[in-house]
Amino acid sequence: MNCFKLSSEQLSAQDHYDFGMRAVNTVISAAGLNKRSQPDADEAILMLRALKDSNLPKFLTDDIVLFSGIISDLFPGVKLPDPDYGSLMEQLMASTTDMGLQCVPQFMTKAIQLYDVTVLRHGLMTVGPTGGGKTMCKNVLAKALTALNKQHGEYYEVRQLVMNPKSITMGQLYGSFDDATHEWSDGILCKLFREGVYDTVERQKWIVFDGPVVDILTLQLDAKFPLQNDLRADICETFPGRPVD
Ligand SMILES: Nc1ncnc2c1ncn2[C@@H]1O[C@H](COP(=O)(O)OP(=O)(O)O)[C@@H](O)[C@H]1O
Ligand SMILES: [Mg+2]
Repeated sequence: MNCFKLSSEQLSAQDHYDFGMRAVNTVISAAGLNKRSQPDADEAILMLRALKDSNLPKFLTDDIVLFSGIISDLFPGVKLPDPDYGSLMEQLMASTTDMGLQCVPQFMTKAIQLYDVTVLRHGLMTVGPTGGGKTMCKNVLAKALTALNKQHGEYYEVRQLVMNPKSITMGQLYGSFDDATHEWSDGILCKLFREGVYDTVERQKWIVFDGPVVDILTLQLDAKFPLQNDLRADICETFPGRPVD
């Protein structure tokens, strides 16, 4: 709690920063996952890791320094061992090269952070300038997770259901009701959801809105899919820079 209070006071003001109850809840779930995977580890370390994993991905570069300062004050003397991403990191690099992209450290870090957030959230948003590598990053991650699942049975296969919400009208997106004929036509989003639901293969289905963020869209999504446990809309800044897309 202290950590979020200090963060909200000291860090820069960004639309996508959130230090409220939802953020606290995420840290608690992350700490729970950590505890289950390493029941005997020092709890201060598990808590520190949870705080970092669920917050660092959304901070701008300057704020990362401030946030690190805050948590080192709150956890004096606790040193975090480097996390071991082993096979995931190797496969991410292989997939990046396969797709003809470069394994720039920043890009690889973002791919790992994107993975960390997918573990904690059911919904997330990557924010950054056009051409910043957001689409490529999610594709590399999906490809790497799928490859690891096929080769070693680790992680999970990913199926992406992609659309660009800016290219269609709201009616085409959600479906619309024709007042004259009282006929309902499904929108693309319904179709994608239905496809995901009827796809019984055990794999993750990612419904991707790949396109510019439209304010009204996020508001409508929040209204249409209220924040229940099984479907949460959350924002994660994965790419530093001006939030445009
Ligand atoms: N790691 C990378 N190495 C080389 N080129 C890249 C890399 N990531 C992205 N690019 C190039 O940048 C372009 C824009 O990336 P993209 O993911 O489409 O950006 P965004 O979705 O953020 O607008 C891509 O077409 C790709 O060629
Ligand atoms: Mg893109």
